[in-house]
Amino acid sequence: MITIALPKGRLMDESLSMLLSCGIEVEAPSSRKLFFFDKNGKYKFLIVRAQDVATYVEYAAADLGVVGRDVLVESNSDVFELLDLGIGYCKMVVAGKDRNCLNEKTSTVRVATKFVNTAKDYFLKKGVNAEVIKLYGSIELAPILGLSDCIVDIVSTGRTLKENGLHVIEEIFESTAILISNKISYYTKYVLIKEFLGAINESNSTTA
Ligand code: PRP
Repeated sequence: MITIALPKGRLMDESLSMLLSCGIEVEAPSSRKLFFFDKNGKYKFLIVRAQDVATYVEYAAADLGVVGRDVLVESNSDVFELLDLGIGYCKMVVAGKDRNCLNEKTSTVRVATKFVNTAKDYFLKKGVNAEVIKLYGSIELAPILGLSDCIVDIVSTGRTLKENGLHVIEEIFESTAILISNKISYYTKYVLIKEFLGAINESNSTTA
């Protein structure tokens, strides 16, 4: 059996649809139980916070995991990236009240974000002095209240930015969900992992 960590939240529904389209039938996950199995008893699925998926996989609590590239880049975990699953598309962006708000800055730029490493790395590479302020949610409020000059965050539909009067200033990278593997499990459970990959690839090629 292999254990696969799935992320709660925006990627969960798409992950479950993907399993179904691969012919992997699962018990309907109940609202409180944090693990479930497929009907053939080959796979155990864990329901974990999106930010924790790569940690479960890196430390071998799960053999495989489904994680957004946005979260994976931020965590810098030591795992293998096996496959871009093509689900959960979003963009990592710099956003602010108006498109020129960073051009006018002569001093340090204040950046609010959940993605501290991503933001630091981005502004460092641009040669811009940035003070990065860690927030855990509702990031879009920060520039509105003057807490920061801009934010680094993901944009999916764009509705949150629009409804809070913010605009994309720069795009950092595009993100989709990646299937990751523990580095030891990849070799010790290669046959089972290959079978799982085969089911996904087959389903992708019939829907393409
Ligand atoms: C993310 C992100 C934005 C929003 C963007 O937050 O931080 O706030 O989604 O999505 P949109 O472009 O479709 O409006 P999430 O919903 O993951 O909640 P969180 O702030 O609690 O992490």
